[in-house]
Amino acid sequence: MSIAEKFVSMEYGPAPEDSKEAVAWLERHGYRFQHFIGGAWQEPVAGEYFDTVDPSNGEKLASIAQGSAADVDAAVKSARAASSGWRTLSPHRRARYLYAIARLVQKHSRLLAVLETMDNGKPIRESRDIDIPLVARHFYYHAGWAQLLEQEFPEFVPCGVVGQIIPWNFPLLMLAWKIAPAIATGNTVVLKPAEFTPLTALLFAEICQEAGLPAGVVNIVTGDGATGEALVKHPDVDKIAFTGSTEVGRAIRAATASSHKRLSLELGGKSPFIVFEDADLDSTVEGLVDGIWFNQGQVCCAGSRLLMQESIAEILIAKIQDRMSTLRIGAPLDKAIDIGAIVAKVQLDRIRKLVDQGVADGATCWQPQVTLPARGFYYPPTLLSNVHPTSIVAQQEIFGPVLATMTFRTPAEAVELANNTVYGLAACVWSESINVALHVAAQIKAGVVWVNCTNLFDASCGFGGYRESGYGREGGREGLLEYMEPAWFKSAPMLPAERVVAPPDARDEDSAAPGVDTPAIDRTVKLYIGGKQARPDSGYSMEVRAADGRLLGEAPLGNRKDIRNAVEAARKAASWAKATAHNRAQVLYYSAENLSQRRDEIAHRLAAVVGDKQAAAEVELSIERIFSYAAWADKFDGAVHNPPFRNVALAMNEAIGTVGVICPREAPLLGFLSTVMPALAVGNTVIAIPSEAYPLITGDLYQLFDTSDLPGGALNIVTGYTSQLLKTLAEHDDVDAIWSFGDEASAAAAKAMSVGNLKQVWTNEGRAIDWFNPKLAEGRWFLEHATQVKNIWVPYGE
Ligand code: NAI
Repeated sequence: MSIAEKFVSMEYGPAPEDSKEAVAWLERHGYRFQHFIGGAWQEPVAGEYFDTVDPSNGEKLASIAQGSAADVDAAVKSARAASSGWRTLSPHRRARYLYAIARLVQKHSRLLAVLETMDNGKPIRESRDIDIPLVARHFYYHAGWAQLLEQEFPEFVPCGVVGQIIPWNFPLLMLAWKIAPAIATGNTVVLKPAEFTPLTALLFAEICQEAGLPAGVVNIVTGDGATGEALVKHPDVDKIAFTGSTEVGRAIRAATASSHKRLSLELGGKSPFIVFEDADLDSTVEGLVDGIWFNQGQVCCAGSRLLMQESIAEILIAKIQDRMSTLRIGAPLDKAIDIGAIVAKVQLDRIRKLVDQGVADGATCWQPQVTLPARGFYYPPTLLSNVHPTSIVAQQEIFGPVLATMTFRTPAEAVELANNTVYGLAACVWSESINVALHVAAQIKAGVVWVNCTNLFDASCGFGGYRESGYGREGGREGLLEYMEPAWFKSAPMLPAERVVAPPDARDEDSAAPGVDTPAIDRTVKLYIGGKQARPDSGYSMEVRAADGRLLGEAPLGNRKDIRNAVEAARKAASWAKATAHNRAQVLYYSAENLSQRRDEIAHRLAAVVGDKQAAAEVELSIERIFSYAAWADKFDGAVHNPPFRNVALAMNEAIGTVGVICPREAPLLGFLSTVMPALAVGNTVIAIPSEAYPLITGDLYQLFDTSDLPGGALNIVTGYTSQLLKTLAEHDDVDAIWSFGDEASAAAAKAMSVGNLKQVWTNEGRAIDWFNPKLAEGRWFLEHATQVKNIWVPYGE
């Protein structure tokens, strides 16, 4: 054979990474691992173990302790015991520990990479070059935050004991994303790795020992979903951070609703990979290889939906098929392998089933001619074309090396298709026109958008979802806030329980009791929907009384229908988010001016409910508060990150969408404006439920906003019984977030009822907020809850 012929036919020889060290490590542990609790290995209380296997050949790697509720309890106690010592350590000392962990991860990097590949089945090239270096980077980056914490977050304290539950697709990387920010901010941790991939977390436990980390700061309890559930339900856990399926995320939201546990969820995705006709198609194909065949497609942000402009679809598909034919699939420890093994048989079956369903739905399936290894769990790279946008394979996360393709004609159609799932984790946009790419990026509902690149991650750039992909961010400054709370808030007193006037189901609004028929009513107001005064659908009203029991007037008794109308009006007013920040600021200033002109009459009316002194203070402070948010409207900027690649990442603070606000009772006017204004200032549209104590305020407010050029529908006000209205708002799929500032029961109800579309929930947990103190009741803390960060990665250079 001539050299020229060899060049053409040249086969890769085997290039296996040596597993000797990893096997020696397993052997040192007798192929059996206990929990890591209080800095030492501890036998599981029930004495139960399960197997973890190598998915590349199905062979058992080791026995792993199955965590019971008793084991979880021991770990939580250990984390609690370590909490005050760790929290009060100087920032510099904490930073040194994180720095030491980062160094040790680098020192043991090859062992970690090999072990990860053996336990997970991912190609060694990926664990060695991507996962483990990013793990080290996370600890370095957060060592820096630990150092700067007191200067940068002087008012914040850690949550306390954090329960963390992670999946199997990036076992050690997800551990780093969870543990690094948590311990940098002074929390102690109980982490449960996924049952398929516990080994690197256990090696990490040894790294903590080697770094001299105080006992109990990091605890690792292994086990399955039941172990995770025990952690979620443990009463002494202050926060749960979860990454995994949307289904389990929902269960965790429901299970934590009636507790004060903070919650962050990083869930599934069905991310669009959008290619315009002017894209560099060869680069696009390489990007796509990373987008969907990286880690066998078992990536929450995998570019699993290819949306192609119609004019290039044929040529792009041909290029993709050519490239797919060169992908090498096989033993993951082989350094020349592109696609390794699927993590477990159950996942392999799931992929097969979904692809079969897609084909039954009418998709065409194409796979290159590849020979799969005889043993182990493998699935070939797969292309599904002619996929209907409503097909299961266009809507559901497959979590395998399967690409579903669709076409579009115009940028607007691309955006519509891209946003046509319940998810919103990530997206890729490929176009040589920066104008088109950024225009589209801005309209996509996703926490990360990669322009002409894909699957780039860095500790400095927050990662997390919109919509049913979850809430909260990991990484960046915003990621730290998930693990801290304002010190005053943690110790704020609880509000007294509110009298529930009409529990949600006890009184159906369609048959509501007739309203008050007392004569000589001072005042009646209407609802405010879509910029217009509206009569309530029920035709009924509720009486409003002064502090001395005198009847002040009637407010409409809003019902489900009114809330639905208000939500529809709010969705139609989405252009408020696109108004310039300057324009929003002007509208807010104008409303402050109008309030100022009417301060005496409004204070006079309010005084009947809260007394002269409070009424005067509320009105004065309300003017100031609107001014503050008018000031903030064009200053709550994002950031530009410099990740260690040739990229800038534009971190944009985006409005969440439509926000339902249950306004506080304690200060009917000031509380209303303190909660509604930050949401409006950053471009959300709002449905506000004023305090039951004084719903007549609606009359003053709609006059105020009518004369301030606020577009109709940007703010809608529905009065009525909070418990009823909260239910409809929280369960409404077109509402993106719920804020509740009532008592403890309404906080729990808001969380429990928002499970359906996993809308973001922010509550006061039933705690009293001093609305009269601007240091506590206004500013960044509110604006951060009113926005979500979208990171748009833009490459530069040739
Ligand atoms: P999963 O959501 O069941 O597992 C993730 C973690 O949650 C594991 O540690 C598991 O033990 C734990 N867990 C399970 N049930 C729990 C419960 N009731 N309470 C607390 N913790 C619980 O995901 P699974 O079954 O491994 O994968 C199924 C599908 O989920 C995948 O095919 C994929 O579509 C999706 N998934 C998404 C991930 C992501 O990163 N977005 C990661 C893993 C899975």
